[in-house]
Amino acid sequence: MARKIAILGGTGAEGSGLAYHLAQAGENVLIGSRDAARAQETAKRLRERIGGDSRIEGMDNPSAAATCDVAILTVPFSGVSALLKQLKSVWKPGTMVIDTTVPLAAAVGGAATRVLGVWQGSAAEQTKELLPPGVSLAAAFQNLGAESLAGNEPVDCDVLVCGDDEKAKQVAFELVSKIRGARPLNGGKLENARIVESLTALLIGLNMRYKVHGAGIRFTGLPLR
Ligand SMILES: NC(=O)c1ccc[n+]([C@@H]2O[C@H](COP(=O)([O-])OP(=O)(O)OC[C@H]3O[C@@H](n4cnc5c(N)ncnc54)[C@H](OP(=O)(O)O)[C@@H]3O)[C@@H](O)[C@H]2O)c1
Repeated sequence: MARKIAILGGTGAEGSGLAYHLAQAGENVLIGSRDAARAQETAKRLRERIGGDSRIEGMDNPSAAATCDVAILTVPFSGVSALLKQLKSVWKPGTMVIDTTVPLAAAVGGAATRVLGVWQGSAAEQTKELLPPGVSLAAAFQNLGAESLAGNEPVDCDVLVCGDDEKAKQVAFELVSKIRGARPLNGGKLENARIVESLTALLIGLNMRYKVHGAGIRFTGLPLR
């Protein structure tokens, strides 16, 4: 059976952008929301945009988390911990979670060009603490902006995949590869998400200073395409 990819918070800019590209690449996508009707609306809009026999459904976050094989977390940092507490007893063992969240200071009224200090070291390491045993984690997509995902053009960005679980990292690599133009790179351990998350704040500042919306990152000198 085809794997199911839940996008928790998939009604938002980042989640619906990822949903669009993954469903277009043939993945079976479940949009999650606090409100099932809102998720169904987003799913319908994306199905109409992609056309053909795209597989995108909408449901509430707990139903999506309970049904999926892989969950991509795309809610604002301020909502992550309450959501993961709500989902703690819902996950199937073996589910893989991919965390995209960045603890921007904007979450508490500060600047989007700064990140908050998170006791665990990063948003991803906080997420790790809030997942039950048997649910694995990788962190990815933090530097791939929603504006870049909004269009039909290939994106122009490397995506660092960090994690301590090789299987979850491998799945994150596969999903990054399904987004045209995105190149997955092994970002090492989960603790390196501290660096990756703070790069997002830097990219937001570059967008502001250069009056663009899609600043991204490309690494050079690697033996890769
Ligand atoms: N935007 C970007 O360019 C970008 C780039 C890289 C990473 N990210 C990360 O992706 C995540 C989402 O970003 P976004 O710009 O898409 O955010 P967003 O549009 O503000 O929120 C995404 C969705 O999260 C849900 N949500 C909002 N507040 C919530 C809360 N308190 N608890 C649970 N769910 C809540 C909402 O869906 P419902 O109301 O339908 O539940 C909303 O549509 C963030 O963590 C961000 O750091 C974003």
